[in-house]
Amino acid sequence: MTPIKVCLASTAVVVTALAGLTADPPPSDDSHRRAVAKADAADAQARPWAEKDPLRPAYHLQAPARWMNDPNGPIFFGGRYHVFYQHNPYGTEWGHMHWGHAVSRDLVHWEHWPVALAPSADRGEEHCFSGCCVDRDGTPTILYTSIGPKTPAGSGAVQWLATSDDGMRTWRKHPANPVMTLKLHGDLKVKDWRDPFAWKEGDDWFAVLGGHREGGKGCALIYKSKDLIDWTFLNVLMEGTERNWECPNFFRLGDKWVLLYSADDKPRLAKYYTGTLTKDYTFRPEHHGVLDHSPTFYAPTTALAPDGRRLLWGWASVKGDGWNGCLTLPRVLTLRPDGRLGIEPAKELERLRGSHAQLVGSISGDFTVGRPGVEAQEIRAKVQPARAKVIGLRYEATKDQVAVPLATVHLPGKQVHAGGISAPFELLPGETEVLLHAFIDHSILEVYVNGRTCLTVPLAVMSGERRDVTLAADDDVTYDWEMWTLKQ
Ligand code: FRU
Repeated sequence: MTPIKVCLASTAVVVTALAGLTADPPPSDDSHRRAVAKADAADAQARPWAEKDPLRPAYHLQAPARWMNDPNGPIFFGGRYHVFYQHNPYGTEWGHMHWGHAVSRDLVHWEHWPVALAPSADRGEEHCFSGCCVDRDGTPTILYTSIGPKTPAGSGAVQWLATSDDGMRTWRKHPANPVMTLKLHGDLKVKDWRDPFAWKEGDDWFAVLGGHREGGKGCALIYKSKDLIDWTFLNVLMEGTERNWECPNFFRLGDKWVLLYSADDKPRLAKYYTGTLTKDYTFRPEHHGVLDHSPTFYAPTTALAPDGRRLLWGWASVKGDGWNGCLTLPRVLTLRPDGRLGIEPAKELERLRGSHAQLVGSISGDFTVGRPGVEAQEIRAKVQPARAKVIGLRYEATKDQVAVPLATVHLPGKQVHAGGISAPFELLPGETEVLLHAFIDHSILEVYVNGRTCLTVPLAVMSGERRDVTLAADDDVTYDWEMWTLKQ
């Protein structure tokens, strides 16, 4: 049998076997290229329609048109941030999963690049599910879950590699695919096995995948490899309490390990544990939390910025005419002294800021701040509650519309509310201020409270709409209010 040589950057990897031994035909770059071109043409055709929608977000990252869900494989490579995402170029509902691709030099202004991955129909692939992208000795390499009629999501998923040798413009499916199959687990029966997240430690690659053991609860499983091709199953990293876990991420932050996962249960929520890793590759959780308390937010994934910050994007399931879904703004995760995660919008977002207004003072009761063009706006309200128990931001009613509470902190109830969703919130010992930081973008509202509690909720603010904004308080407060219109 003649070995097939596959060159990955400087390293020549010899993949023994395959040709002639498996039932699958060898992958055809041509057919993948054609499938990508077809998807790009569909995007180009649908884009003007989606862009006409007055509810379409202006500064949130979105597919050119139609459906998108999870962010995939964010990576800083060659001087640019690359973010991929689950994309259906052929409809505004979930289906035909491709990997869309957007790039940015500054985390804020994004450009669409050609679709990266399309299902390889000639290899029986129906969907390219979520995964990650890593830099393998200079070669950008995607590890993702491949789904087809013979490799169904519930019981037969396989993991594939794809590489790019032209700076991530085009991608090739690797001849060694599948590089991971359920056989890795021996007798252990794993269901809904998907969404690889890989990283390098010394000379070794590691990956975590989500799913659940047959009859068990959602879990993350951990694997090791020298080359991203031959993998060994190490252990069940952690089993949780929810039905199934999707999109796990596992990384160091400060002196702890952080495990992120999306709990596919009721409600569907993205959560985390912080803790430590044992020598036998099990995770010892110390703190548990929710990344964003709204079920509109799901399937987040992370990348390391060149300066070491851990950046996170999630899928926001908001929709309009000709488009469905967008990504949340890039958020920065930090490990707080209490062992929990801090979550704040990335400082690069300040580049979006246009006209600015600031008001500082004391009030007792509601105070209408002004009437800006509201469809794309940032509000940063620092409020010292003094005697107030309830503090909030509100859009006032216009002629034919009702008032919209944007975010309300209820101090005695230890809660924050936005868009009908509640999250636990209380001032910590020594904290005297409530910081309500809100990003409004037509159909999406992101609320960050005191750098640790997040809510992403649907909203409906039409282009050109003007509304009064009110700082709502039930008693005395001192405030420092800033407001910007945001521009792409
Ligand atoms: C999460 C998810 C992933 C899967 C992808 C398919 O939203 O279900 O587990 O890979 O979406 O689009």
